Amino acid sequence: MNDPSFSRFADIYRSRPAALAPMEDVTDAVFRAVCRSLGATLCFTEFVNVEGLLRGAAVAKRKITLAESDQPTAIQIYGSDAARLAEAAVVAEAAGAAFVDINCGCWVPKVAGNGAGAAWLREPSAMVAMAAMVVRAVSVPVTVKTRIGLGPESHMPIVELARRLQDVGVAALTVHCRTAQMGHSGKADWQWARRAKEGVTFPVLVNGDVRSAEDAERALRETGCDGVMIGRRAIEHPWVFAEVRARLDRGETVAPPTREERARVAKMHIAWATDAGGEREALLAARRHVGGYLAGLEGAAKLRKAVNEARSLDLVYALIDQCAGCEAPASA
Ligand SMILES: Cc1cc2nc3c(=O)[nH]c(=O)nc-3n(C[C@H](O)[C@H](O)[C@H](O)COP(=O)(O)O)c2cc1C
Repeated sequence: MNDPSFSRFADIYRSRPAALAPMEDVTDAVFRAVCRSLGATLCFTEFVNVEGLLRGAAVAKRKITLAESDQPTAIQIYGSDAARLAEAAVVAEAAGAAFVDINCGCWVPKVAGNGAGAAWLREPSAMVAMAAMVVRAVSVPVTVKTRIGLGPESHMPIVELARRLQDVGVAALTVHCRTAQMGHSGKADWQWARRAKEGVTFPVLVNGDVRSAEDAERALRETGCDGVMIGRRAIEHPWVFAEVRARLDRGETVAPPTREERARVAKMHIAWATDAGGEREALLAARRHVGGYLAGLEGAAKLRKAVNEARSLDLVYALIDQCAGCEAPASA
């Protein structure tokens, strides 16, 4: 393909990407910026409901709004109807998505129970036909993120599915190496990503339980996949992206972040969240991330509790400084 969006896409996937996973209520524009500043190669938005998107709902609009600097970012969509997914993909493309990702992996009842997300795994042929329709609707690349199967199959459908998705023009695949039935429990089985990758030539990201540079290196070695996608570990330790990049690009191990660095990123995240959504949003972001960012420091457990109870950002900033030992303890 000569289309610039496809050649950019190919370059990204050739660089052994460390991608920030789509995570509802987590992977917002601010967190994407934080992770990108620490080395994330590629980001995905949290999933966006196609009906909300096509209705122009405020929440969906916010989720697909990409700043110029927010690239490369894929907009992830979910829904149960192929034609509506195709229509929504057009809206996502117009919003500036580097590519459009289709969620075929969400297991939660409010999504899968309504025929979206992992429900597509019940009927692989329908998933392939839906993906083909979305591919035809847009001129940017279309990718799919799914699980290895519904569970508890002995031979997971992902192997055959990967090949069939490639055949209809899907540009890349992310394999969360759990079944839908497993939810977030149990251990991700990367061997299914290897088996899926063996049968295709398009790029595959391996996802599930990649928590460190060592994990990333091992996951790529054991699966032959093109890159890794990291979710939960990034919420508490976004430095994982810098660590993975150093390992994959230069074979280096980077030292863990210092207290000052931990405090810097925590405060930067809160400041950016304040700019983007005001004090309320910033307090929510602080509750979600600050305990993890400062984990391991003395007093971190107490800090987590205090941040959860804090009603003002001034107090949160003071608590961070106090825990990181950057300044004299605040009176609060
Ligand atoms: C809070 C949370 C929200 C999530 N939301 C989404 C989502 O919107 N779309 C999606 O494809 N996966 C979603 N996931 C799944 C992650 O993208 C990822 O596949 C999963 O967490 C496994 O990767 P990990 O072991 O690196 O966390 C979510 C996971 C978590 C923990």
